Amino acid sequence: MTQPRSGNITWSEGHVTRQQREAALGHRAATVWFTGLSGSGKSTLAITVERALVERGIHAYVLDGDNVRHGLNADLGFSPEDRTENIRRIGEVCALFNDAGLIVLTAFISPYRSDRDAVRGRHPEGGFLEVFVDTPIDVCEARDVKGLYAKARAGEIPDFSGISAPYEPPERAELRIDTSGEALEESASSVLSLLEERGIIR
Ligand code: ADX
Repeated sequence: MTQPRSGNITWSEGHVTRQQREAALGHRAATVWFTGLSGSGKSTLAITVERALVERGIHAYVLDGDNVRHGLNADLGFSPEDRTENIRRIGEVCALFNDAGLIVLTAFISPYRSDRDAVRGRHPEGGFLEVFVDTPIDVCEARDVKGLYAKARAGEIPDFSGISAPYEPPERAELRIDTSGEALEESASSVLSLLEERGIIR
């Protein structure tokens, strides 16, 4: 946890434990952290899994890169420092949502391994599941859903992940998915199976 700037604050405990919340909701809390290049399919997969979970009566919620950058992180750009701060804040939001008993699904490029590991460290053992959406860059670029790869190649977007900025693939992801090699429903079902295997949902 980041050290508070002020020394005059103390942590305040509530009367409801995380275990009590989980018992009331009927499933465990967790963060499913999708990481991968822009256009790799993180958001599509996250919202598909979210819908499947909610249909099963599970409290799930997606945090998406583009959306969060419209509000909470509207002050951040794409420098290495800003990306680290982006992921740090999201990690704190995940920790709060987990405390509230939710399954959080995140869709951020999150290109730096150390940033993702720091978020993992804000979760209890087994509460952070990293899913590497390992779609090859040529496939992401051919899709170019937002037209950003074309702009990046034309030099109009500096520091574009995979082209002019780094992407560090996970070394210990709980799951790896290549959306170019399988159907969306198949990928979603692998994520749901992972949640079942880990005892997060029944
Ligand atoms: S992260 O690197 O800080 O994790 P985040 O997931 O929040 O990135 O935002 C990525 C989204 O912002 C991309 O899907 C894309 O739509 C948009 N974007 C705009 N500029 C860039 C850039 N320079 N690099 C990557 N994505 C960018």
